Amino acid sequence: MLRDVVIGFLGAGSMAEALLQGLITAGLTTPERLWVTNRSNRDRLARLAKGLGVHTTSDKAEIVGVAELLVVACKPKDVPALLGEVGGLTRPGQVVLSVAAGVSTATLAAGLRAGVQVVRAMPNTSSLVRQSATAVSAGTGATAEALALCHEVLEAVGKVVEVPESMLDAVTGLSGSGPAYVYAMVEALTEAGVAAGLPEAVAGELAVQTVLGAASMLRQTGEDPAVLRQRVTSPGGTTMAGLQVLQDRGFHQAIVGAVARAAERSRELGGARPSPVAR
Ligand SMILES: NC(=O)c1ccc[n+]([C@@H]2O[C@H](COP(=O)([O-])OP(=O)(O)OC[C@H]3O[C@@H](n4cnc5c(N)ncnc54)[C@H](OP(=O)(O)O)[C@@H]3O)[C@@H](O)[C@H]2O)c1
Repeated sequence: MLRDVVIGFLGAGSMAEALLQGLITAGLTTPERLWVTNRSNRDRLARLAKGLGVHTTSDKAEIVGVAELLVVACKPKDVPALLGEVGGLTRPGQVVLSVAAGVSTATLAAGLRAGVQVVRAMPNTSSLVRQSATAVSAGTGATAEALALCHEVLEAVGKVVEVPESMLDAVTGLSGSGPAYVYAMVEALTEAGVAAGLPEAVAGELAVQTVLGAASMLRQTGEDPAVLRQRVTSPGGTTMAGLQVLQDRGFHQAIVGAVARAAERSRELGGARPSPVAR
């Protein structure tokens, strides 16, 4: 299905490049079916055309004209201006997939022609290495086919789950901000390794590989994390002693609190965002 669809990217930054690269590398489509535009950076478009072989244009009407699926890949603050430029050029049946954090499908739909199918996604920064944890939600009126198409596109950069749009703030708190929590943990592990007498490079290497290995164990065994944790914790052993300190100092509650606060902040920012300009 995806192979036959012409996709137009409105925005040519890191997220657009990750998706383009993922789609091409995975063989999900060919560069001839991919079109890209941006606001003003012509060098960037030239580099993408040369590097990936995709079509580029500064004419947004052209891209909206040829594409069956449009990907909104600009910053949330630039969405109103983008919708003002292209909204009136869209047509019923077209699918619009937005990765702009915090911009609702209702806001997007209000800036597009009636009958355009809107789907919204929340990928994370690991898209850049094709390991995103992405959630996707259909807007009112988006068909199962439109959602399936967007799901396929997003799988080019990682795992995808479907959730109701009302859950996207929670997703933002968990997987949207989650990479930073893991980076903070790796920083702490490295610092702790140095304090325990390891050279920094050694401590850093061990910390990163430990996180990667633990994630791979979870993914490959499919086991519950609590089961894996119990399996490596022998009574009276070293791991038990370490875990006891985490428990005493509120590690679990700190993570729960971080996700809850980030989700709350996402709701605050979403509510504070201006509506798109009228067509
Ligand atoms: N990067 C991530 O890891 C990540 C993770 C999750 C979600 N996201 C979401 O993905 C979106 C894009 O992020 P990014 O990191 O790719 O941003 P970025 O690198 O700053 O790229 C933004 C792109 O949008 C273009 N743009 C701005 N206004 C435009 C307009 N009116 N018409 C057409 N193009 C326009 C810019 O063009 P010029 O360069 O010409 O100005 C640029 O190509 C954001 O909404 C963000 O919330 C990103």
